[in-house]
Amino acid sequence: MKNHIAQIKEELGSKLSEVKASEGLKILESSFKKSLKELFAEMKALGAEDKREAGQLINDLKNEFEARFEVIRQKLAQGADVETELDLSIASPAFVRGKIHPLIRVGKMMEDVYKEMGFSIAYGPEIELDKFNYEMLNMPYYHPARDMQDTFYLEYPNILLRSHTSCVQVRYMLEHKPPFMIISPGVVYRVDEIDPQHTPCFYQVEGLVVGDGINLANLKWAMTESVKRIFGESLKVRFSPCYYPYTEPSAAVDMSCIMCGGKGCRTCKGTGWMRVAGAGMVHPNVFEGVGYSRETAGFAFGWGLNRLPMLYFKIAEMRKLFENELTLWEQL
Ligand code: DAH
Repeated sequence: MKNHIAQIKEELGSKLSEVKASEGLKILESSFKKSLKELFAEMKALGAEDKREAGQLINDLKNEFEARFEVIRQKLAQGADVETELDLSIASPAFVRGKIHPLIRVGKMMEDVYKEMGFSIAYGPEIELDKFNYEMLNMPYYHPARDMQDTFYLEYPNILLRSHTSCVQVRYMLEHKPPFMIISPGVVYRVDEIDPQHTPCFYQVEGLVVGDGINLANLKWAMTESVKRIFGESLKVRFSPCYYPYTEPSAAVDMSCIMCGGKGCRTCKGTGWMRVAGAGMVHPNVFEGVGYSRETAGFAFGWGLNRLPMLYFKIAEMRKLFENELTLWEQL
């Protein structure tokens, strides 16, 4: 009996490894069923002890081959080549290790630096309401400053893709009471033509610090310190008067050009400086809008995050960040 089982197992096993089509499989299955019937008939003649042992063996055989039939049936159904599937001589393709995208790497560096300085991180949605993107940032519907930050609408005029991360300021203040220090990294959108310095979708890191006695000197220190920790002590940061409706006074923030060390080159258009952020003391109208007193003190800033990896990795054109040019990525 045991020999008979072993024989069936061997014969069927070798035939099974040659099956290439479902017809062949069906023939093997029906001959297997016949063999099982014969085995069960044979088993009846055995004594109680042997019968139990043989029954166990036949069952194992049945389970094993039913499972193997099923695997082959599925492979045939998927059109797989059963015979060549286990060709161990095929060389595997070379292993390519991936890397984190430069934008995300620099974004992470910024997050780490600000966390070290005691900031926490807040997030806001990319699909925003007009109210948070413009209105409550002191830009009513008729305000000309909206033109500089035109965006894409999902439903005109109220539902849009946020044109900056500054809307997170409003959302955060509506839900929290000062004092606090937050940054908010994220993607923003604008109706901008693609050129070496512009893409219609880019990254920003917003900052907001509100609390008693917060002043412009704190703003200058926090911003300067954060980029020095990334780019090194020799980096220079300059602030110049500027206009944003949601801050007063407002500043444009420039960093000395990394490409030429501030001497003047093509990237910085010969000026030695790169515009990297906007900032200022939060406007009393913004505080009032979120239910704070107009006397509240706080500063805010918004880094254009795309510029920073360009400078960090010395990439001359912003759109390169979004092109999958492997020869470039391999050098970074
Ligand atoms: N939202 C501005 C922009 O996208 C940047 C900015 C300017 C953010 C001043 C601020 C700020 O928080 O206070 O260009």
